[in-house]
Amino acid sequence: MENFFQKVRDEVKRMGKTVEDCPFRTRYHIMPPVGWLNDPNGLCQFRGVFHAYFQYSPLNVHGGGGYWGHCTSSDLLHWDYHEPVLTWDIPEDRNGVYSGSALIEDNRMYLFYTGNIKLPGDYDYIDKGRISTQLLVESEDGQHMSAKVKLLGMEDYPNGITQHVRDPKVWKEGNRYYMVLGARKRAWDASGARRDKGCVLIYVSEDKRLWKFFRELAPEKDFGYMWECPDMFCLEGRQVLSFCPQGLPSEAERFQNLYQSGYSLPVPGKDPEETFREWDMGFDFYAPQTFLSQDGRRILIGWAGMPDTECTQKNLSVENGWQHCLTIPGELSFKDGKIRRMPVRELFALPWRDAETERKCYHWEGQTVKLSCDRICSEELRIRLGSQENGMTVRVKDDMVELSFLDEAGKAALCGGGRGRRLGRTRKAAENLLILIDSSIAEIFVNDGEIVFTTRFYLNPQERDLEIHGQWKWELQVV
Ligand code: FRU
Repeated sequence: MENFFQKVRDEVKRMGKTVEDCPFRTRYHIMPPVGWLNDPNGLCQFRGVFHAYFQYSPLNVHGGGGYWGHCTSSDLLHWDYHEPVLTWDIPEDRNGVYSGSALIEDNRMYLFYTGNIKLPGDYDYIDKGRISTQLLVESEDGQHMSAKVKLLGMEDYPNGITQHVRDPKVWKEGNRYYMVLGARKRAWDASGARRDKGCVLIYVSEDKRLWKFFRELAPEKDFGYMWECPDMFCLEGRQVLSFCPQGLPSEAERFQNLYQSGYSLPVPGKDPEETFREWDMGFDFYAPQTFLSQDGRRILIGWAGMPDTECTQKNLSVENGWQHCLTIPGELSFKDGKIRRMPVRELFALPWRDAETERKCYHWEGQTVKLSCDRICSEELRIRLGSQENGMTVRVKDDMVELSFLDEAGKAALCGGGRGRRLGRTRKAAENLLILIDSSIAEIFVNDGEIVFTTRFYLNPQERDLEIHGQWKWELQVV
């Protein structure tokens, strides 16, 4: 496999300058050094340093992941990139080192992930042709990994589960370790037609190596055919199950993306659907993972992207040899029974300075922009990024927040790469808004993080104009 690492080094050398000069590179978001990135993996703080791994395809900008890239940071905003840490080098992961998580214990890092095999042939890759294995590696430094150890294979999953079983998230509770896996369960509707169900499987272990099946959490009612990237954690004393259901039909104000990601607060006897809330209302958000920082914060990072949308939702950075980034790390808290997500406090500690605005207009290029708005009247607030012909508009009226790339005739702006319009609603009226713009990503936090919109957009530096309409109080800062 030395060959793979050498190829990555050569690719970084070949494409490094083009990638670096790309106007869409961000400053505070995790990006692939070259090529493609998807899910965050193995998030943790280890010996004081934050480690983020990510699904990576350095040699193919359309690659769809399958390797683990690695970066580290002391503040969750400035990231140093290292060589990939996991590649396809044993039979069990020969078609991809898929997503997984980290557990830190006794000054050692344990990484759990799924090894994927797709057998060559004419298979459906649901019931036949796929092998999903859960594996473990250990590390002293986060960069060099021990040999891979198989923990669970097809023989260990309950009857009735298809071959889709992946994305282990592991945590410790008391003296035991728990692993939650996303899965697809065989099911049929009343007419006898096949209609699979997404679910999670939970395993338990005394030593992180020997795992026993503990339970399955499957909904009674249909809630998607597959659940990916599950996470289970405790937030302010409440149990939270986060997961990514695939196959939910779109509604006008819910489930507007191809695949969803959200959380429920499990209650015995209730389906997860009943308490399900989406993590994000923007175009680009999927596969989030959380971890606990050493100072006790529950921090969430998502992929600012969406699988299987490359032909409808283009990322204009592709021509410069890279695509996708992760979200700004968010701190989670509870309010009114809902989880709020705001950027980590480290973001607010950056040396922000007031922007010199002309009336309510501002032009920015390389800076990162933070716009805070507070409602002081019932008038609509409208913020335009870019121009009338090529821009994105954020509209806030009462409890409605809309993000749109469409002009009055319904034509989509170039800078959205095919993205149209997304809607979100707050419980009461929207009182405040924080918009963070880091080159090609906008993250909009409404009502102190009650709803969030994450969206990529691609304006060239000379097109980066911002205009505020409406009598709200606002403050614009840059760094
Ligand atoms: C989610 C996902 C995971 C899988 C990984 C592969 O985006 O499909 O379920 O482990 O991506 O890159």
